[in-house]
Amino acid sequence: MDRIRRALFPAAGLGTRFLPATKAQPKEMLVLVDKPIIQYAVEEAVNSGLTNLVIITGRGKNAIEDHFDVSFELERILEDRGKSDLLTLVRAVSDMVHIAYVRQKEALGLGHAILVARDLVGCEPFAVLLGDDIIDAEIPCMRQMMDIYERYKASVVAIMEVPAAEVSRYGIIDGIPLEGNDGRVFDVKRMVEKPRIENSPSHLAIIGRYILTPAIFDVLEKTGRGAGGEIQLTDGLQNLLAQERILAYRFRGKRYDAGEKLGFLKTTVEFALKNKDIGREFRSYLKSLNLDEY
Ligand code: UTP
Repeated sequence: MDRIRRALFPAAGLGTRFLPATKAQPKEMLVLVDKPIIQYAVEEAVNSGLTNLVIITGRGKNAIEDHFDVSFELERILEDRGKSDLLTLVRAVSDMVHIAYVRQKEALGLGHAILVARDLVGCEPFAVLLGDDIIDAEIPCMRQMMDIYERYKASVVAIMEVPAAEVSRYGIIDGIPLEGNDGRVFDVKRMVEKPRIENSPSHLAIIGRYILTPAIFDVLEKTGRGAGGEIQLTDGLQNLLAQERILAYRFRGKRYDAGEKLGFLKTTVEFALKNKDIGREFRSYLKSLNLDEY
């Protein structure tokens, strides 16, 4: 199979880093300027040409389904009030794409979440996008990765260079650069989850975009529970490496970590500055602040 058609969006995590905000509301629905964070990843998939989307949800995640569904009541009210531009905005979300949902009954890890979608994926290679990672890029990050997949027909993980102080927060790759490709594609030899800097094979960190071959499913079935009693995707990838080639791709673009408080705030500030409606005013507001007062 040459083409990727399906994208998975694991969204069944507990979002503990945002408690209490995420007690009754999914992390994926936290608002970044004017859209819930999961919509950015969905739009990236759609703009990459993926048409078959699956969101993996869990308990308390109904708001995600409602967000991408048609809201007849709201549309009627907006129509009656003549709010045609708002109506267009609301319809654009539900018209964007067809999404299927599958539930992960217990948050047993990212590897487990992917396994839950096995029957929906079947025997095709597929994309995985974690909504926490928001990527600003001229060519959508997933589209760039699909081009690499189409050339090499191997699993692809997205990587970025991180400072030494941050390697212990990521899965880090040990890889050999492939000829050409501007030095952006690596043959992965090994992956190390959250290494101490002195044991880290590189500063190249895996972020939340993957293209996986269906061989990952059998591997994940056999991968035991790792750190935190969860089935870790990185452990599964390390096991997949024993039977298949995995490539790492240093994408072009800027990645924002909206999955934790400080990262979320930084993302909000930068996206607000770039926003065409409020950007200018927000910039002058920021400039007017006397930071020494805080
Ligand atoms: P994270 O560990 O970053 O998210 O998982 P979390 O568990 O929701 O948040 P914290 O750490 O408690 O604050 C990475 C991605 O994997 C999904 C999450 O929804 C997130 O998109 N995930 C994680 C699942 O779908 N199922 C799981 O069991 C675990």
